[in-house]
Amino acid sequence: MTDHTESTSTTYAPPEEFAAHANVTAAEYERADEDRLGFWADKARSLLDWETDFTETLDWTNPPFARWFSDGRLNVAANCLDRHVEAGNGDRIAIHFEGEPGDSRGITYAELTAEVKKAANALISLGVSQGDRVAIYMPMIPETVIAMLACARLGAPHSVVFGGFSSDALHSRILDAEARVVITADGGFRRGKPSSLKPAVDAAIEKGGTPVEHVVVVERTGQDVEWFDDRDVAWADLMGEQPDEHTAEAFEAENPLYVLYTSGTTGKPKGILHTSGGYLTQATYSVFATFDLKPEKDVFWCTADVGWVTGHTFIVYGPLSAGATQVIYEGTPDTPDTGRWWDIVQKYGVTILYTAPTAIRTCMKWGDEIPGQYDLSSLRLLGTVGEPINPEAWTWYRSVIGKDRCPVVDTWWQTETGAHMIAPMPGAMATKPGSSQRPLPGISVKVVDDEGNPLKNDEPGLLVIDEPWPAMLRGVYGDPERYKDTYWSRFEGIYFAGDGAKYDEDGDIWFLGRVDDVMNVSGHRLSTTEIESSLVAHDIVAEAAVVGAADATSGQAVVAFAILRGGVERTDDMEETLRAHVGSDIGPIAKPKRVHIVDELPKTRSGKIVRRLLKDLAEDKGVGDSSTLADASVMDVISKQVQGS
Ligand code: WTA
Repeated sequence: MTDHTESTSTTYAPPEEFAAHANVTAAEYERADEDRLGFWADKARSLLDWETDFTETLDWTNPPFARWFSDGRLNVAANCLDRHVEAGNGDRIAIHFEGEPGDSRGITYAELTAEVKKAANALISLGVSQGDRVAIYMPMIPETVIAMLACARLGAPHSVVFGGFSSDALHSRILDAEARVVITADGGFRRGKPSSLKPAVDAAIEKGGTPVEHVVVVERTGQDVEWFDDRDVAWADLMGEQPDEHTAEAFEAENPLYVLYTSGTTGKPKGILHTSGGYLTQATYSVFATFDLKPEKDVFWCTADVGWVTGHTFIVYGPLSAGATQVIYEGTPDTPDTGRWWDIVQKYGVTILYTAPTAIRTCMKWGDEIPGQYDLSSLRLLGTVGEPINPEAWTWYRSVIGKDRCPVVDTWWQTETGAHMIAPMPGAMATKPGSSQRPLPGISVKVVDDEGNPLKNDEPGLLVIDEPWPAMLRGVYGDPERYKDTYWSRFEGIYFAGDGAKYDEDGDIWFLGRVDDVMNVSGHRLSTTEIESSLVAHDIVAEAAVVGAADATSGQAVVAFAILRGGVERTDDMEETLRAHVGSDIGPIAKPKRVHIVDELPKTRSGKIVRRLLKDLAEDKGVGDSSTLADASVMDVISKQVQGS
């Protein structure tokens, strides 16, 4: 655990004007505290349209399997689309799309609704109906959002696989979700050139065993792609034939909405399952509460990729359900130059910006003069997510990007929690650099010690969630035991998040990083075990250990230690070979920054690798306490080899 928290008395009250018009005031906490379930029932009814109202808010008779609003019925896509058109807001821009090469498209709610209806009809023509899983492997383009909402409209859960993942990762996710349809694109634009996607889908299917019958291909880059007539169909051809009328059927509130895979402490990614009514309630509430969204005025921009939960909740479901106008940008922040993001803020008059600490630190590195060249006066609120934000980056964000006017909200949540859990309400309290501060109204968390005893002031402990919440995961797809073991077995009846945390003297929460074998690299979750398995699968490696070492830009960096198989001669290009191997096996984000070839790994008498010692080495902290090792001298050997490499 890295403790970069520092006691700070600096807090920033919201501008008066902001507080005066804030969506959430202090009274909201009182209301939620008085009657937590009543609070969520009110939110579900006031924020969403239900075809059939619910009579029971929460069914927790079979923990940890929660059912929220379970006898209510609604259609998630209709809540994100049709209802805004019916309310007379069809002409409002839903999406300002900015392609990396500079092409742009404005899509109104009426247009987006029509496109999603067509896409729903298109999926029906391929035999998709309620409960069928659809895999989506796409770049950051409007068709991705359209595809996801078309699935939601039919009650067919999607499984979006991040476009940066390899064909192997895609294969295992298609298999696990048993998807019969894959929606993809020829490619997308990244770093000034087309990067391909379709070949990875072909390779995944070629690996065999998948039930895939149809691959729908959006043309984005115009790259040449191989075409298989028996299964491939062009998105434009398929959509061209479809009527833009489709009546959304209401499904029960617990109808599965999506599966999203995330790294856990074992090698196999978990398919996190989210359902409809509770998820959409809390996603929509997060947008109104934490981001103080005013749909008629604001221009919201979340810079995440739709392949992660942040993109699911804060590009697709939350903002669209809230009726927001938002920006979707396809590419990287430094294409064609490092001013691109600020150019986008200026061009569209972005008012609310939501990004990750790693991006903020990268912009800090590029220098204040870059954002200084653009008009950022439209901004009124800044958000961050993905990893603990150090107070320096927070303060830079507030002053250089927010010109000391915009509240900064540090939002803590997870793929599993579905929506915001801990974040300051920007109009109701002063914000504090580096702290996520308080649970949202209606959310209950604690910091506890190893035995589950509540901790106070400055004692580092574990973050737990001690009451069920509407957007909570409903399980691990196809594996109820893993759901119970991972989240609900550490402490009886309460959710274990896997994060270290502490309260400060004001009762504000600070996050201290993961307490398990999950690394956080540039806000992306990676499993040490998964990367170790990948390394060991290479035929020159006998054994491997992976650690997340502190890194000034990416938060953590993947550093690997590998022992070669007997008889394999050490060569200079081995490190690069192994880095590339992991990159193609899992995806470029998992590529280790360093792979040290060593003769030994530090192990306890029972044979467990002591990663803590390797982490100290990787962070240049020297050799730590090696008294628990079976052979204390191995650390000196490893240390010499690391210095020599
Ligand atoms: C970390 C991303 C500190 C944390 C939404 C969590 C954070 C994991 C913060 C979830 C934050 C996310 N402060 N740590 N504001 N936000 N994390 O599932 O370790 O990709 O458990 O969801 O990221 O990552 P995930």
